Amino acid sequence: MTRSEPLRLAILISGRGSNMAAIARACAEGRIDARVDLVVSERPGAAGLETARALGIDTRTAPWPGAAGREQFERDLAAVLAAARPQLIVLAGFMRILSRQFVEARAGRILNIHPSLLPDYRGLHTHRRVLEAGDRVHGASVHFVTAELDGGPVILQSRVAIRPDDTEDALSARVQATEHIIYPRVIGWLADGRLAWRDGRPWLDGEPLEAPVVEDFP
Ligand code: GAR
Repeated sequence: MTRSEPLRLAILISGRGSNMAAIARACAEGRIDARVDLVVSERPGAAGLETARALGIDTRTAPWPGAAGREQFERDLAAVLAAARPQLIVLAGFMRILSRQFVEARAGRILNIHPSLLPDYRGLHTHRRVLEAGDRVHGASVHFVTAELDGGPVILQSRVAIRPDDTEDALSARVQATEHIIYPRVIGWLADGRLAWRDGRPWLDGEPLEAPVVEDFP
């Protein structure tokens, strides 16, 4: 793919938006050839919306009406996204599950970050569960989104050593700091054409990506 313009991103958030801000800064500082055109939240009070506005990024809300209203929500979300015509949708702490239909209509064009070494610890409270299990390592995973929750192909993982005196907060802070490094990196690979989605799977540097790239952090 040849592009003369930066890769256009829309980022979906539900809360603080620290990953969104890290990605936006990587774009603004020219570290990745991408541009955040829009930040969307289903929570009008999400703190990350204010952060995005302070960074000069357009924001929208598509309020979550409850599970019974999922179809309408996804129509609203699709309309908001269609107006911005993003080339990539980036889920960054977006805490709603998107339907198979929504995801499959955008195959290979949605990324997510999850705070665990997938396929371990899908779902919520990953830091607590890892500590309770007595694991020695933890981390975060950037993956393509498929209809299977936290189940799409993983591209890059940060692996973080668990310390004997770790608490949930301390571990979560260390893992989040790595998220802010690996998420922009993967978006940069896509923007540079190193990473692509073809034939229903990820390719990196011209080869099918058989296993995630893993980066170790202290
Ligand atoms: C991040 O740690 C992200 O990995 C996690 O939510 C946090 C959002 O933080 N995502 C999930 O748990 C998705 N299942 P942020 O709003 O500061 O980027």
